[in-house]
Amino acid sequence: MTHDHTVLFVDDEVNILKALQRLLRTEEMNVLCASRASEAIELLEQHPAQVVVTDQRMPEMNGVDLLSAVRERHPDIVRMMLTGYTEINVAVDAINRGEIFRLITKPWNDDELRATIRQAFDHFDLKSEIKRLNQVTREQNFKLQDMNRNLEAKVRERTKQLAAKHQELRTAYVQTISALAEAVDAKDTYTRGHSQRVGVYASKLARELSFPKDVIERVYIAGLLHDVGKIGVRDSVITKPDRLTPEEYEEIKKHPEIGAKILEPVDFLRDIVPCVRHHHEWYDGCGRGYPDGLRGDRIPLPSRVILVADTVDAMTSDRPYRKALSLDVVVSELTKYSGTQFDPTCVEAFLAILERDGEQVVSHDQSFDIYEFIEG
Ligand SMILES: [Fe+2]
Repeated sequence: MTHDHTVLFVDDEVNILKALQRLLRTEEMNVLCASRASEAIELLEQHPAQVVVTDQRMPEMNGVDLLSAVRERHPDIVRMMLTGYTEINVAVDAINRGEIFRLITKPWNDDELRATIRQAFDHFDLKSEIKRLNQVTREQNFKLQDMNRNLEAKVRERTKQLAAKHQELRTAYVQTISALAEAVDAKDTYTRGHSQRVGVYASKLARELSFPKDVIERVYIAGLLHDVGKIGVRDSVITKPDRLTPEEYEEIKKHPEIGAKILEPVDFLRDIVPCVRHHHEWYDGCGRGYPDGLRGDRIPLPSRVILVADTVDAMTSDRPYRKALSLDVVVSELTKYSGTQFDPTCVEAFLAILERDGEQVVSHDQSFDIYEFIEG
């Protein structure tokens, strides 16, 4: 076998086989011959061929049956018939059943026969190339699917790690801010836990008012930090048990501005600054609100919420000059100043929470996690 391509001729007439061999002697192909179907089948087992050309009328097994057998054993081999005019009906039938690639009639034209056999080899090569490419595509698809699965798993894992890191950072953030708020509260034994409670009450009001999650978080942080400016107010003024002089009162009134100045340089607290600055404005914009005398919705909504939360906690906590006030007093005070000092919607939100949850709303020993609260 000296060439890449092999053709097998099957014919019971030896002269025809000889003529075919002669015809193709100089061609770039190996030529095998068999004079019976069984011999052809055996030959194919030993020598791979790409093309089989058979006569129709032969003893033992005819050409169509031989090609069927070849098709079954070697489905890729290109099958052709070389047949006399008298058998043409059978051959046409074989073509129609998809058994054969071409039909060549005897006597044949030499050039045509050579060309047809070359075409058959091309056909074979093309089909095996398509098959090979399909196989490559399939393998690459499998590889891709595999890579996709790995990638998805990796992304899932990374997302989980990121979420955990994010949660860690948020917790650290809230802890740091809480520590700062506690430092402020520590200036006065009577305000221990005040900032934390204002943060909690304000968050509950914010949720009652259907604020989005990120705004509830902002309200909580602003609640924790609302009095951070008291760091800049003298302790003697803050802890003074008696009535403040007008000058001392002016000094106390500076704390929202001081607080805003303290927070301003902190990038991630930028949103909180106006909330802190305006937490003592009055809703009606009268001169009693400070520092800017803003009115209505010019006052940031978180500030209006914090003012109600701040008032509720101040009234329900002991003071050096009085014990904690009852919720009835708180309710009547809030109602009395609703629309003047307080935003009526914030007052209503508090009354709704009180109605639903009762006195435990102002309990001093409730544990609170802002992120559980937001997601809960
Ligand atoms: Fe304040």
